[in-house]
Amino acid sequence: MPINRRQFLGAAGAAAAAAHTACESQGGASPTLSDIASIRERYPRVMRQAYLDTAAHCPLSTHTREGMQKYMDFHMYGGEEGRGEYAGEAMRAVKPQFARMIGAKPSEIAFVQNTKAGEDIVVNGLDIQAAGGNVVTNDLHYAGSIHSFLGRRKAGMDVRIVKSKNWVTDLDAMEAAIDKKTRLVAITLVSNVNGHVEDAKAITGMAHANGGYVYADIIQAAGAIPIDVKALGLDFAACSNYKWLQGCRGSGFLYVRDELQGTAVRDLLFPGYVRFNYPPWVDPADGNEDPMPFSPPTNAGRYQPGNTAREGYCGQYESFKVMEAIGVENMLVHTMALVDRVRKELPESRYRCITPEGARSPILVFIPADYEGTQARLKQANVQATMTGNRLRISPNIYNNQEDVDKLLDALV
Ligand SMILES: Cc1ncc(COP(=O)(O)O)c(C=O)c1O
Repeated sequence: MPINRRQFLGAAGAAAAAAHTACESQGGASPTLSDIASIRERYPRVMRQAYLDTAAHCPLSTHTREGMQKYMDFHMYGGEEGRGEYAGEAMRAVKPQFARMIGAKPSEIAFVQNTKAGEDIVVNGLDIQAAGGNVVTNDLHYAGSIHSFLGRRKAGMDVRIVKSKNWVTDLDAMEAAIDKKTRLVAITLVSNVNGHVEDAKAITGMAHANGGYVYADIIQAAGAIPIDVKALGLDFAACSNYKWLQGCRGSGFLYVRDELQGTAVRDLLFPGYVRFNYPPWVDPADGNEDPMPFSPPTNAGRYQPGNTAREGYCGQYESFKVMEAIGVENMLVHTMALVDRVRKELPESRYRCITPEGARSPILVFIPADYEGTQARLKQANVQATMTGNRLRISPNIYNNQEDVDKLLDALV
């Protein structure tokens, strides 16, 4: 039954009040964060169009740009006037910030360029093929990852891709596919396909009972829904920053459970520095030292390929500050009010919803009866959403409001 505008405003108001309380209880990062409505002005693109497409990418905010700009100023002018200190502070803070967001330890976090790079570090480091092991995944995992697994299958890896049933992971089929040789189960925690939220706890239970590990792609989850990797039993996870983390491309994070570092997941990159302890490099050499002393990182930094996109991480530092001040749960309360309204008000006869009922994620997907007409109407109304394959995907964030949803519904109903 469609909810009326007053009921909707009530839900949105509750979310804003929750955010207000969260900011106050955390000391209030800045006066403009005291309610979600004022956040919107920090994302100039969303003031120009109804932007309902965070699952594709998040428009850059003024506070994120400011972090990036500060790093660029440091790069351009040097470290005086606090610029060097700022860069150091941001780079030191950003792993602990991400760790807090997903319930991990900072020592379990590595910088990676993107989600796929993180997943590849895990898959390659586990030596799956050499050990005669297999990988189990499903068709709600990211298509780029499935593409990569199909390539690995062609190269001889035993890859099992379980098909979903009615747009939901078939847990019985997953269980049947997992066996004692399963080295890795790879899933997407919130699916970009339809916003399905994987029952990660059930899947980690199945994998661990067979001696296997679980990797989760969390690019559509981190910053969108609360995550606790320990409670879910996840061994590995990765994401880029440009979607729900509200950052930019070229920077991301990999989580590797402490106990698995350098053991289950072999070192393949060996970052760090070597010292040359012999003449003419040093003279005299330190006779008590190795000629080439080398000390690799003993935390997840061991998986970092090398230098990182520092502009991106300085921007991310600012994004995290805002998200921590509001709280991911409060953000989700806000976005769920928006997606719930769309789900109720778009007529099922013309827009078949393929997001499972009860999925608690801000991604909502439909198969429109008239795909091209839908595309044209959205364009005409200046509403940004993803249209791909046969599907329409909307994915609101904290910067969206009921007027954006009005515009979408006015265009489509
Ligand atoms: C679920 C999912 N995983 C991964 C990606 C791509 O990630 P990256 O560019 O960080 O490799 C996307 C992009 O749309 C995605 O939706």
